[in-house]
Amino acid sequence: MNTSELITHFQTQFGAAPRFVARAPGRVNLIGEHTDYNGGFVLPMAIDRDVTLVGAPRQDRVVRIHSANFDQVSAFSLDNVVHSSEHEWSNYVRGVADVLQKAGHGLQGFDAVLFGNVPIASGLSSSAATEMATIEAFNAVGELGDLSIDGVREAKFAQQAENQFVGVNCGIMDQFISSLGQQGQALFIDCRSLEYKLVPLPQGVTVLVVDTQAPRTLAGSAYNERRAQCEEAARTFGVDLLRDVSVSAFEQRKGELTPLVAQRAAHIVYENQRVLDAVAALRNGDVATFGHLMNQSHDSLRDLYAVSSKELDAVVDIARSMPGVLGARMTGAGFGGCAIALVETRRLGSRGIASLRDAMEREYPIKTNRTPKMYDCVPSAGASWALL
Ligand code: GLA
Repeated sequence: MNTSELITHFQTQFGAAPRFVARAPGRVNLIGEHTDYNGGFVLPMAIDRDVTLVGAPRQDRVVRIHSANFDQVSAFSLDNVVHSSEHEWSNYVRGVADVLQKAGHGLQGFDAVLFGNVPIASGLSSSAATEMATIEAFNAVGELGDLSIDGVREAKFAQQAENQFVGVNCGIMDQFISSLGQQGQALFIDCRSLEYKLVPLPQGVTVLVVDTQAPRTLAGSAYNERRAQCEEAARTFGVDLLRDVSVSAFEQRKGELTPLVAQRAAHIVYENQRVLDAVAALRNGDVATFGHLMNQSHDSLRDLYAVSSKELDAVVDIARSMPGVLGARMTGAGFGGCAIALVETRRLGSRGIASLRDAMEREYPIKTNRTPKMYDCVPSAGASWALL
């Protein structure tokens, strides 16, 4: 549904005209996986798929949301923000309301329709997009004062909502890029200082996102287990975060770790270095090196960090065998979800990216018995709101 359809939808649902639109994008991560919660480096970009809220302020303290994706209405009072087991999707909205209030922001209720075209549960951060769109909706309703000028603080609130209210122990990457993404740019983020730099994606390069359509089983429990292993390695090395361990320090002291923890830590230490190298390569217009680093990142996630899956590996293998593909890797937490291929369009034939899609549609089901979904994505703008 586009904004004008959502406006009509709001009128049908609530019998009045909406007054604001708030939106926030999903993301893919180009390189730097599982580094964010180690205080390390990431290079995500926001994608041209959003979660949108079209709404109007209320005079009381009720928030009432109609999800167009689920065709369900969920309402709650800002005086008693409780978890909903009936409408799980609404917990991202509730969580944001809860953390903003606990931080001392006075909120006002609103009615809204909520619609997302970020695929749900595919690893493209529809949850972060919902959280960020909700913050923008509260901005539009007008109670947050100067919060709207500080995208980093907004991202931290959204992450807190996910950690403390929804109960998912994620890092800051997804909310950060959904908040601060910019058209045509990837963001190089230092997840400890939260400083960031824009890195333009070179002309003639496209990102093809391939959704494995495989359920992300294990994602939650294994994610927490990996975090614990990283913390154990950091403790052994006497640092707060693995970010503080250089490749050479790691090589000298890795024998102090158990073999499994050493493997996990190796991924983090080398992945951080790969992000730095990848940013330097992009800045030099060296897309070939960038592609190699993406490949190394995937291989490390598969072999050392053990968060890939048969389906993700299949997408990556197929993509790498195709002309024009500079590199391919899983993106996000892993265990299913999406992989990305970086494609140099001038090396594709006359049918362009369609030839890649066809090959993937032909070969992926043979390897996995599943049908892939594909999206070619361009780096897009972060969260925003506007009055209607
Ligand atoms: C998920 C989390 C992020 C990050 C990635 C892995 O997307 O939400 O914080 O840890 O996994 O890089």
